[in-house]
Amino acid sequence: MKRIFSGIQPTGEIHIGNYVGAIREWVRLTEDYDCIYCVVDFHALTVEYPVDEMAKRTLDTAIVLIACGLTPEKCKLFIQSAVPEHTELAWIFNCVTPVGDLERMTQFKEKARQHRGNVNMGLMDYPVLQAADILIYKAEFVPVGEDQIQHIELSREIARKFNGRFKPLFPEPQVILSRAPRILGLDGKSKMSKSLNNYIGLLEEERTIWEKLRTAVTDTNRVRRYDPGNPHLCNVFTIHTAFSEKGLLEEIERDCRSARIGCIDCKRMLFERIIEEIAPIRERVEEIKKNVDYVFEVLNTSALKCREIAKRTIDEVREALGLLSLKKG
Ligand code: AMP
Ligand code: TRP
Repeated sequence: MKRIFSGIQPTGEIHIGNYVGAIREWVRLTEDYDCIYCVVDFHALTVEYPVDEMAKRTLDTAIVLIACGLTPEKCKLFIQSAVPEHTELAWIFNCVTPVGDLERMTQFKEKARQHRGNVNMGLMDYPVLQAADILIYKAEFVPVGEDQIQHIELSREIARKFNGRFKPLFPEPQVILSRAPRILGLDGKSKMSKSLNNYIGLLEEERTIWEKLRTAVTDTNRVRRYDPGNPHLCNVFTIHTAFSEKGLLEEIERDCRSARIGCIDCKRMLFERIIEEIAPIRERVEEIKKNVDYVFEVLNTSALKCREIAKRTIDEVREALGLLSLKKG
């Protein structure tokens, strides 16, 4: 089976954009690929964060991933900082990555603007660590949302540079783009994200989810209830496409265009669909929380297996670089 790698930051609350844009796809792909998934805590160090919350956020993220179906029977799931070989490879990749390539990264430019007072080296180096995450396992495919395409392109570039200069050890990883690659936030303008506070959290109370959805921006041309709407200009409809069946979508499209239903009707249907899909996940989260030892066991076992693979790659890389080996024999 071909290998997949992907990662998610432990930013605290996982939102429905992460869920349909990444996690739900990750679960599906476990059927056909050898999958390695990772909570990338080292990536999260690149911006300021509450130190006393990091461990909890990391654990909570892992719990949600398991509850979504990323169980040890289906894939490996571990915490990035438990496999230090990632950072070793990142250093080596630093030495084949032009600074200019990193300065051009959209995410870097955005984050540098958001965190003017703390534009650290890690922030700029973020995509190099990401390339190391993927390539240390020689993964060929990386399932992500649209925002990560540029980073995966850079991973290919880094693999190509290393292979050309030293030894052809690495595949050039390809994106598997999510079927919901870019979910906008409730403002209907920017990408749904934790930092913009325009999200619906997977674990938020039903009441809060409804309040957020109720006030979400729709087709802005539709002002009065009896104005016909255009679903293709409506973010609520886009979110519907990630949660609802074809039949319901066709019905909504028709009834919105003819103004038979209003935005609030459409939102109510979406609310029901979201709750239906995420309720079992929320129940499993509660179950898993009662047995945190199980989570530690899953993460530890995976980390050990991943370290084995990572160490083998590092040995090959060290040799390709021409470093002095102190191993006997
Ligand atoms: P992050 O939370 O930035 O670590 O993202 C984890 C995964 O979720 C990545 O594969 C992202 O591409 C994906 N993702 C994040 N936000 C969205 C969004 N608004 N729509 C679709 N996918 C997303
Ligand atoms: N940068 C990714 C994000 O913000 C997270 C990530 C880190 C990742 N390492 C990765 C994704 C390797 C895919 C592969 O979403």
